[in-house]
Amino acid sequence: MARSLNPLRQPSPEEAWTRRDVMRNGMGSFALLCTLGNQALLDKPRVVTSARKRSQAAAPFAPFQRDLPIMPELVPVRSTKDTDFYEVAIRQGMADVLPGYQTPIYGYEGIYPGPTIRARKGRTAMVKQTNTLSFDSNVHLHGGYVPAEFDGHPMDVIAPGASFDYKYPNDQDAAFLWYHDHAHGRTARTLYYGLVGTYVLHDDREEDLDLPLGEYDVPLVIQDHAFNKDGSFRYAENVDVGFFGDTILVNGAIAPRMAVDRRKYRFRILNASNARGYRLVLGGGREMVQIASDGGLLEKPVRRKEIPIFPAERVEVVIDFAKFTPGTQLVLRNEGGEASTTAVMRFDVGRGGGAEDFRVPRKLRRLPDLPEPNATRRLDLALQSSSSVQWQINGRGFDPSRIDVRPRLGSSEIWQFTNPSNRVHPMHLHGMLFRIRERSTGVVHRADRGWKDTVAVQPGERVEVQPWFGPYAGRYVFHCHNLEHGDKAMMLQLEVVE
Ligand code: C2O
Ligand code: CU
Repeated sequence: MARSLNPLRQPSPEEAWTRRDVMRNGMGSFALLCTLGNQALLDKPRVVTSARKRSQAAAPFAPFQRDLPIMPELVPVRSTKDTDFYEVAIRQGMADVLPGYQTPIYGYEGIYPGPTIRARKGRTAMVKQTNTLSFDSNVHLHGGYVPAEFDGHPMDVIAPGASFDYKYPNDQDAAFLWYHDHAHGRTARTLYYGLVGTYVLHDDREEDLDLPLGEYDVPLVIQDHAFNKDGSFRYAENVDVGFFGDTILVNGAIAPRMAVDRRKYRFRILNASNARGYRLVLGGGREMVQIASDGGLLEKPVRRKEIPIFPAERVEVVIDFAKFTPGTQLVLRNEGGEASTTAVMRFDVGRGGGAEDFRVPRKLRRLPDLPEPNATRRLDLALQSSSSVQWQINGRGFDPSRIDVRPRLGSSEIWQFTNPSNRVHPMHLHGMLFRIRERSTGVVHRADRGWKDTVAVQPGERVEVQPWFGPYAGRYVFHCHNLEHGDKAMMLQLEVVE
């Protein structure tokens, strides 16, 4: 792992925020909020733009200038018969995002995005996280079946200078998970400044399917950002809409390009953005075959021409580049974006390819039936009607001293998220998975019928999901994954009881 400079001599990524933007935008974002209030019914939020900055650095923002970076894999410091031990430092670092600039970040091992952890079902991963930052941090394995004490609950934090050993049993089917900071009240900033990493869980059964592997199995972490003149990330808090940047980064590079062979690739797409949802379209409407969602494989592959993905969701697709002649350039576009947030990345089809080793079988797996639900709960997602800007669920904001829901271990319930507000709320449940049963706005898409841990509830919509409470008892949270909403304070606690 490349260690960067001495952390003590590096500027904090938030200095930019504190020194400059807070002073300039403290009042500014309040004013923006009021403006946005009037346009409440527009579902496309106004972009907090750094266009003025962009004019001074036009070239670096052009898309397709850099090759897609691939996050390094974290190497275990040791392994036993059934466990891999990892050590990670949560620290400041510098990232090469813009040519000729260094961007200060917070990063796992000081890099952005963090190193990929590759885990295998049945093998425990022990990850010792050491917090070298000057404030509390912790780590949540998003989408993992993780005992409550290792879940990264917002109140279970690692103090500056301290370490914590996270134990991940990996006792669930293969899935594309991710890990990120979850210390309460500051995740919008810490994820924005880089505390995100991917966690790829493999299992034998999935490997038997002959889906693309190795270099043909590529994680894509999508985040939107904005920049200051000095190349640092620019952040402005907006509790109502959340943060929207004016530039799309994939794996830490601005709308990169990737040279591909004429064969099948598996892309594991993570939307790690604070608030932005994307509608992904390949090459003006070429087919992508979706094979998995948040909680792993679907029952059957689903052919799609357009794929929506909201914050914290994962979508896995197979793209077959054998269909294209060498020299073809296929742009992955965000049809939901503004001019500068349309280009996501580009695939440049080369000559190579050779014999295809991989395929997409017609059946991927059979999902288990859930137990009969024994309760129905309605959860209203709304902005607090009085005083300060605060998001709430059923009129409540996060209170760590209060348990809001107490389901029995092994049981299931129907949760109806209703959204009377004018923002999208990607609702996430920790430690367990659910299935989407119903949407008031239409049928549940076939690609949304697998295991999920996050579901986007659109303005005016009611979405009915069925969580299965297990495999572990204990205290967890569920919350909105628009990070500004989650921080303030759209989060409730559940305790799974035996
Ligand atoms: Cu991605 Cu509560 O987390
Ligand atoms: Cu929300």
